[in-house]
Amino acid sequence: MREGAQRFSFAVVTMSDRGSRGEREDTSGKLLQGLLQEEGYFFSAYVIVPDDREVIVETLLDLIDNRKIDLIVTTGGTGVAPTDVTPEAMQGVIEKDIPGMAEAMRAASLRMTPHAVLSRARAGIRGKSLIINLPGSTKAARENIEVLLPALPHALDKIQGGTSDCGR
Ligand code: MTE
Repeated sequence: MREGAQRFSFAVVTMSDRGSRGEREDTSGKLLQGLLQEEGYFFSAYVIVPDDREVIVETLLDLIDNRKIDLIVTTGGTGVAPTDVTPEAMQGVIEKDIPGMAEAMRAASLRMTPHAVLSRARAGIRGKSLIINLPGSTKAARENIEVLLPALPHALDKIQGGTSDCGR
């Protein structure tokens, strides 16, 4: 349990063509769900979608604008393959970029694998929601989200207009 996490809801969105057709088990989505629940966040939704820019945008807008979910983590589609379109879909969703989150994940990941540079993951804000992209493999999803976990409650508090002290 992490202090401050309990008042925020979260959703997991997995981008996978094969997963969305039921041809592949989504272990990364399940891992992220468990990890964020252990942190104390309230699980609200799990969606698996194909690597289709329009479908991704529609899905994220529904979770944010209609369902008002505080934190959305996505997994997959951040790389350089022709089908990878998660960062492009983010362009149609986020209103403010948080480059430091994506930079921190890549910097930490680079100490683990040279392939870290291939992730084009982004993080950003729409309304009062925070959206974070993570790579698709279970290993990469875990290694990347772990970089951000200590900063998440304060980030969510600030995004929602909290006036808590920034002193640490
Ligand atoms: N970051 C960490 N920490 N660990 C990893 O194993 N894999 C990389 C990278 N980031 C990796 C990582 C690889 S191999 C790719 S292709 C990119 O994330 C993008 O992954 P995606 O296309 O599944 O989103």
